[in-house]
Amino acid sequence: MDVHIDVGYSPDKMRTRIYRGEIVILSATPATKALVDHARALIEAAFAPHDPRHAHEHLSVAECVEILTRLKPHFIHHADTQKLLRQVLLEYGCDPQKTYQDVPRLRVAYPSNFLTSGIAYAHHVHRDTWFSAPKSQINWWMPIYQFLPEQGMAFHPQYWNRSIANDSDQFNYYQWNAVGRKNAAKEIGKDTRAQPHPQEPLNLEPQVCFVVPPGGTIVFSAAQLHSTIPNSTDWSRWSIDFRTVDIDDVVARTGAPTDDSRCTGTSLRDFKRMADFAPMPEEIAESYDTGLLGAGVAVYRPEANLLTEESVG
Ligand SMILES: [Fe+2]
Repeated sequence: MDVHIDVGYSPDKMRTRIYRGEIVILSATPATKALVDHARALIEAAFAPHDPRHAHEHLSVAECVEILTRLKPHFIHHADTQKLLRQVLLEYGCDPQKTYQDVPRLRVAYPSNFLTSGIAYAHHVHRDTWFSAPKSQINWWMPIYQFLPEQGMAFHPQYWNRSIANDSDQFNYYQWNAVGRKNAAKEIGKDTRAQPHPQEPLNLEPQVCFVVPPGGTIVFSAAQLHSTIPNSTDWSRWSIDFRTVDIDDVVARTGAPTDDSRCTGTSLRDFKRMADFAPMPEEIAESYDTGLLGAGVAVYRPEANLLTEESVG
């Protein structure tokens, strides 16, 4: 796996590299620092008077879940969040007419003996393309506070462009929107929601974790095999992640090589144009529609502030 650090590629060149399985690491910028400061302010207000990294030492699992159930959608739908994210992408040179962004998600990885399911789900090994992401999807991952490899995110580069038996054929994005997402807060102790898993033994070593400072960003393909490292420290890790697609790549079906995704439905309708937050043109999303909508929901809409907006992948 090649890793490019602050090389200064154009966004077009960066995507080409990422589609080959390479990873791009970007230093913190004024815009990412502003996004991090915004996230910190909301997190710290929600957990006051506790330090959010240690709040679980003072609160029960149920109390943390209750706070997160309000905090996560508050962050996602806050008027400043999407604007700050657009600023991040502008600063990296993304074309606002061609780049589509989804909403950034707030993640917390608690010490593994505290809470690892539902709203603080510790992601098992997966590719986002098993969860209805297009193969041109680019993932951006940014820590909000300093963190250690013992609580980070792992890549498993030996499985790049190598098929893995998996049960993504059981996953339909519209059903997930209808049921799985809104039930995240109820999944305490064990996560019972149907999510694609590998169906063969994997050799996950060596795994690679990149440690970047707050506001630094790890940029990678949705087809990378990755997972949450069980947090073996006694404090929680906080991060933001979001996704982008380039509309030309979506139309041309350019992207990572992927031939082990059997899921149905598409997450393309979650993406909005950077310039004006216009929706993904329906005819383009429709051209990716592999699953019947049935009783499902094409675009997840949380009810007021009561539901979380837990993304997949
Ligand atoms: Fe993921």
